Amino acid sequence: MDADRFLGMLDRRELKSEKQRAHSRKVCQSVFDRVSLTSLYHLTKKGFFRELKSVVSEGKEAKVFHGVGNHGDVAVKIYMVETSDFRSMSSYVKGDPRFGGWANRRQLVNLWAQKEYKNLMRVCEKISCPKPLGFHKNVLVMEFIGEEGLPAPKMKDVELENPKEYCEKLISYMREMYKVRLVHSDLSEYNVLDYRGEPYIIDFSTGILLDHPKASEFLERDIGNIVGFFSKKGVEVDYSRVYKEVTDGV
Ligand SMILES: Nc1ncnc2c1ncn2[C@@H]1O[C@H](COP(=O)(O)OP(=O)(O)O)[C@@H](O)[C@H]1O
Ligand SMILES: [Mg+2]
Repeated sequence: MDADRFLGMLDRRELKSEKQRAHSRKVCQSVFDRVSLTSLYHLTKKGFFRELKSVVSEGKEAKVFHGVGNHGDVAVKIYMVETSDFRSMSSYVKGDPRFGGWANRRQLVNLWAQKEYKNLMRVCEKISCPKPLGFHKNVLVMEFIGEEGLPAPKMKDVELENPKEYCEKLISYMREMYKVRLVHSDLSEYNVLDYRGEPYIIDFSTGILLDHPKASEFLERDIGNIVGFFSKKGVEVDYSRVYKEVTDGV
C-alpha cells in the first residue's frame, strides 16, 4: 500500500483545474505518512469508503477529505502528529475517565480521533451532527455534511433566514449534549455547518464529560460564544437564561 493509490484517485478525479489537482496532491503528500496510509487502507478494507476525492479543509491539527463510500459521501479526517498542539490536547483528555494514558505524541493523536468518534456516537441520535462511521488510529470517517463534495458552509459565513429559531435550536442541542454529560468545548460559529437551512454541529474532538475539571468553564465559554454570535445578529438572547435552559434539572 502506498500513497500513489490515493494520490492517483485525486489525480483522475473531477477536480476542476490542474491547480486544484496539484494542490490536493501536495496536501496528500504532507498528510500521508506510513501510519495514516495504513489506517486509510484498513478503513477502505472495512468498507467505510472507496476513494478520496478532494481536500476539504487543511487545519493545523487535522486535514479533512471528501471521500466516496458505498452508501454515499463521507468525510475523512486525518489528525496530524507533526503539527498538533500536545499541551492543549492533553488537557482535554486528562481527567476523562473514558481514556487511559498515552506514551507518546502519536498515541495522544490516536486518542484524539477516538475521542471525536466516541463523542459523536454519544450525541448523534439526539442532535444534528455527522454520523460517525469508523476510526482507525489517527483517521476518523464520518458522514459528509454537504452536497456534491462541497462541505456545507460554516454558520459564520451565511445569512441566516431565521436567526432566532436557529439560536433556539442550538440551545436545545447544547441541552441534549448536557443531558448525556457532554460539553463540546469548542462550540462557535466556526464549528456549526448550515446544511439545508439547519445547524449541524461538527468538530467534537475537544468534547469532554462533566467529570472533567474544566467542564463548567468550557460550557460557559460555549454558551458565551453562541450568545455572543446571535446577539450580534440582533437576536435577544440572555446568557443566564440560556445557561439555565441548558443545565436545569439535569
Ligand atoms: N462531516 C463533515 N462533512 C463535511 N465537511 C466537514 C465535516 N467535518 C469537517 N468538515 C469540514 O472541514 C472543516 C474542518 O473540520 P473540523 O472538524 O472543524 O476540524 P478543525 O477545525 O479542527 O480543523 C470544517 O469547517 C468543514 O468545512
Ligand atoms: Mg473546527
